[in-house]
Amino acid sequence: QPAHYQPKILAGQHVVITAGPTREAIDPVRYVSNHSTGKMGFALAEACRDAGARVTLIAGPVTLPTPQGIERIDIGSAQELLAVCLKVVNQGCDIFIATAAVADYRAAEVSPQKIKKAGEQLTIQLVKNPDIVATVAQQEKRPFMVGFAAETQHMEQYASSKLVSKKLDMIAVNDVSRSDIGFGSDHNAMTVFFAENYHLVQQHLDKASKAQIAWQLVECIAKAQAAR
Ligand code: CTP
Ligand code: CA
Repeated sequence: QPAHYQPKILAGQHVVITAGPTREAIDPVRYVSNHSTGKMGFALAEACRDAGARVTLIAGPVTLPTPQGIERIDIGSAQELLAVCLKVVNQGCDIFIATAAVADYRAAEVSPQKIKKAGEQLTIQLVKNPDIVATVAQQEKRPFMVGFAAETQHMEQYASSKLVSKKLDMIAVNDVSRSDIGFGSDHNAMTVFFAENYHLVQQHLDKASKAQIAWQLVECIAKAQAAR
């Protein structure tokens, strides 16, 4: 669907999207991270812009160019991501979409000097990172909250429990055990869970390009937001 055909279903709304991985330092030259490329979040940013929204994209280290007409803020660690999200959300936003693959843990202590190779084994202690989407959902100015989940098994069960525990309005789940979609791919397929008239609705989005999936997600968000 070319952009000019798309109805402005998010006109006047401010959408904040997190995208890409976070990078958790171990020492000045090393970090813990993951394979997220940010493609889904960037595709969603474009779809929201085409739907008439003002878009703020908060991105971890990715190689993608910034889409036209979108404000981009770059972050490194999960803690930096949280600080930027709270600032932007508390200034006012209508929809928060969390596609970022936040590192669940970070090094308990970041070594100020490069760690030298020594013994046969090395143990690095990790501590849990803050949950960004769950923290944003607890803010007084709570936007419509959309989460993502990547699962390899028990998709429906894990997704619906994340919807509840993180206090989300909607969650989109993809099956990362499939190698033809998800991480790094240009295609995706998802199942979306959201509340409509006090019922949990499940909608499957068949395998399509990330741009097409993004547009279908925008339609789901607009519909679920109107029903809330
Ligand atoms: N998320 C977040 N902050 C974190 C971890 C996750 O905001 N520290 C968000 C992700 O951006 C995503 C949603 O929470 O929208 C689900 O992420 P996921 O990794 O699937 O959930 P976790 O709660 O981390 O559970 P697990 O990794 O054990 O499945
Ligand atoms: Ca996680």
